[in-house]
Amino acid sequence: MTYTIATIIGARPQFIKEAPVALALRKDFKEMIIHTGQHYDRNMSRVFFEDMAIPEPDYNLNIGSGPHGEQTGRMLAGIEDVLIKEKPDYVLVYGDTNSTIAGALAAVKLQIPVGHIEAGLRSFNRSMPEEINRIATDRIADHLFCPTEHAVSLLSKEGMTKNAFLTGDVMYDACLHFLPLSDKKSDIVHTLGLTGKEYLLLTIHRPSNTDDPGTFLSILEAVAESPWPVVFPRHPRTKMVMENAEIQQIISKTKHLKIIEPVGFLDMLQLENHALKILTDSGGVQKEAFFLGKPCITLRTETEWVETVKAGYNMITGADPEKISRAIRSFEPSHERKNFYGDGHAAEKITEHIKKVLIS
Ligand code: UD1
Ligand code: UDP
Repeated sequence: MTYTIATIIGARPQFIKEAPVALALRKDFKEMIIHTGQHYDRNMSRVFFEDMAIPEPDYNLNIGSGPHGEQTGRMLAGIEDVLIKEKPDYVLVYGDTNSTIAGALAAVKLQIPVGHIEAGLRSFNRSMPEEINRIATDRIADHLFCPTEHAVSLLSKEGMTKNAFLTGDVMYDACLHFLPLSDKKSDIVHTLGLTGKEYLLLTIHRPSNTDDPGTFLSILEAVAESPWPVVFPRHPRTKMVMENAEIQQIISKTKHLKIIEPVGFLDMLQLENHALKILTDSGGVQKEAFFLGKPCITLRTETEWVETVKAGYNMITGADPEKISRAIRSFEPSHERKNFYGDGHAAEKITEHIKKVLIS
């Protein structure tokens, strides 16, 4: 009997996480991809399907942007319709976005078993929408696939032990799998006129940094003092806030800030791999910096990826301009790098687990 797994994705990091999982899953199962349409610009969605050869979505719900409740509610209704029609045997959701909680909630209400990939992460900051999505998804999912031992231990403290499984991180799988292809295909460092290890890479998209112009300006102020060029693939949320006149004025004076459109994964891996340091508020980018051995300056007041900080590769600066400036000039990792994120076969381990559940 062929079992069908419905994969629910919708935002940029979920496409990246799905790529290695699709390769593993499709050896044993029929996979059906439901794209919620949370991200929809070509360079926030399609480019990943092309770069990483992710199979075409079977459904695109085209939900688009909107306030949290409305966006999540429309996803819930759309996903429910598809699940009722297709009756998959299992549903997979990824990470902590509104697409994650909508997918998990639609499935559990229909009594379809749900696996949560990247379970057990906590920032302990409930003002982050992602924190609410993670807590809620972990509570209702049937199987919690954890990227790290720390995630397993956090779930255990919340009483979730029997259904939590250490698999390793599918983003590590993706990084290992796609780095050689990126080396071969991407010429972005050269095209942008950059020299390896002589530029910084910056990404910003968290509402805590974008929604308050003062906070955003503090980060820009520090970046403006960087002795090296700063490449900034700009998320669409960030582009919107940068239309502010004061911000435009600072940018016009910051000659070495290279603002570019968001890039595909192969280009992003090159930008990360050749950067001197990486500044980010992204979860995924913090980890990739670690995988690639790059010092990471995290523009948040806390992180879920605590191993990277303990290992001495990630410095938490928040939006404090002095701390950021100091880190840009002098932060150097001081320890050997251990591998906290598995062996590059997390996707296979997840597939094996689903096989056991469905076939037993
Ligand atoms: C979402 C996730 C966040 C994740 C991020 C990855 C939630 C609550 N947040 O944040 O966890 O880290 O994706 O990038 O699910 N927009 C476009 N084009 C697009 C997509 C978005 O212009 O293709 C603009 C819209 O104006 C939109 C805004 O970006 O309102 C924010 O998009 P949204 O998906 O709501 O949140 P993200 O900030 O992308
Ligand atoms: N990424 C990318 N192009 C970009 C910016 C990010 O391919 O222009 C990738 C990055 O390498 C990582 C993922 O997107 O794999 C992280 O997604 P994002 O920062 O949007 O979300 P988060 O991880 O914070 O949820």
